[in-house]
Amino acid sequence: MTQLKNDTFLRALLKEPVEYTPIWMMRQAGRYLPEYRATRARAGSFMGLCTSPDFATEVTLQPLDRFPLDAAILFSDILTVPDAMGLGLYFAEGEGPKFERPLRDESAIRALQVPVLDKLQYVFDAVASIRKALDGRVPLIGFSGSPFTLACYMIEGGGSDDFRHVKAMLYSRPELLHHILAVNAQTVTDYLNAQIDAGAQAVQIFDTWGGALSHAAYREFSLAYMQRIVAGLKREVDGRRVPVIVFTKNGGQWLEDIAAIGADCVGLDWTTDIGQARARVGDKVALQGNFDPNALFGSPAAIEAEAGRILAAYGQGSGHVFNLGHGISQHADPAHAAALVEAVHRLSRQYHQ
Ligand code: CP3
Repeated sequence: MTQLKNDTFLRALLKEPVEYTPIWMMRQAGRYLPEYRATRARAGSFMGLCTSPDFATEVTLQPLDRFPLDAAILFSDILTVPDAMGLGLYFAEGEGPKFERPLRDESAIRALQVPVLDKLQYVFDAVASIRKALDGRVPLIGFSGSPFTLACYMIEGGGSDDFRHVKAMLYSRPELLHHILAVNAQTVTDYLNAQIDAGAQAVQIFDTWGGALSHAAYREFSLAYMQRIVAGLKREVDGRRVPVIVFTKNGGQWLEDIAAIGADCVGLDWTTDIGQARARVGDKVALQGNFDPNALFGSPAAIEAEAGRILAAYGQGSGHVFNLGHGISQHADPAHAAALVEAVHRLSRQYHQ
């Protein structure tokens, strides 16, 4: 196995000493980059990119060729999992992801099964191909959606602003939702372990919609299933720990509980003060985040000031992976992303002496 040339990201996740605060950006390979749009046009579609290991490798490396990022993230999507379960994923132009067969009736829900992982072989092939192309430059992150976030898309059949069908099921037929979540949790565990086998050096669980749940429902319908996954993951490969990051968007009020499920790092959106978050989680976990992605619409000077404020709020020492609090906008200016990466690297050195 090639030696890692830059393992700052992995060390920060384990709270080991680093020289500067590492940074990567959620959705760092995407439409804000003209080279991504060009490759996507050649591939014909977004799924064409995801299902071809060569295209997936090409777009994964594009942001790294532009910016000195400290980690690469597998180019794929969380919705490949329900697609493999037979729900029929498609992307309607300008409308976001949709499913041909949303999970609504009891018989379809009872028939839901952990898919044969062969259906996601293209993902594992992409992981292996990206690792090879990276040649030890930076670590590769694998990922999955959380059981609850996947269930939101599976039940609603696409994006939603009120989660009407999910909430109806949660409050009136909770046993049906629990069945879906149990299947999802087993699937995600197997899926992430297969990504780790293929070469992923850290993994992140994206719980984008957990924050839409009530205080009590979050624990029962999202956190408990993520805990199950974390307990089932391979945590060490070739003598090196494979860190796990759990990110619940809008989950700041539940930080202590999230920090207790056994992950190495908790992701923060931009609504929590990272200094207070650090005090609340103590030594339990590292933190990732918490730059408002839309602050990238400000000037480079404003971006630098905001990055400096977050670094100062975290304070001295390791355990912070700088990131956006959610995915980068397709309208972001790549020059502004460059300014952010540069500012984080330069300004963070003073906190690691
Ligand atoms: O971070 C990365 O760079 C890795 C790639 C990645 C994508 N999606 C690529 C993508 C990751 C980690 C995701 C995760 C994902 N996908 C989440 C969880 C994180 C989050 O952003 O909340 C969710 C909820 C999805 C589902 C999804 N996929 C939506 C809602 C959309 C449409 C919205 C949009 O931005 O267009 C997608 C499509 C998608 N996934 C794109 C990319 C680059 C845009 C597709 C395109 O090129 O047209």
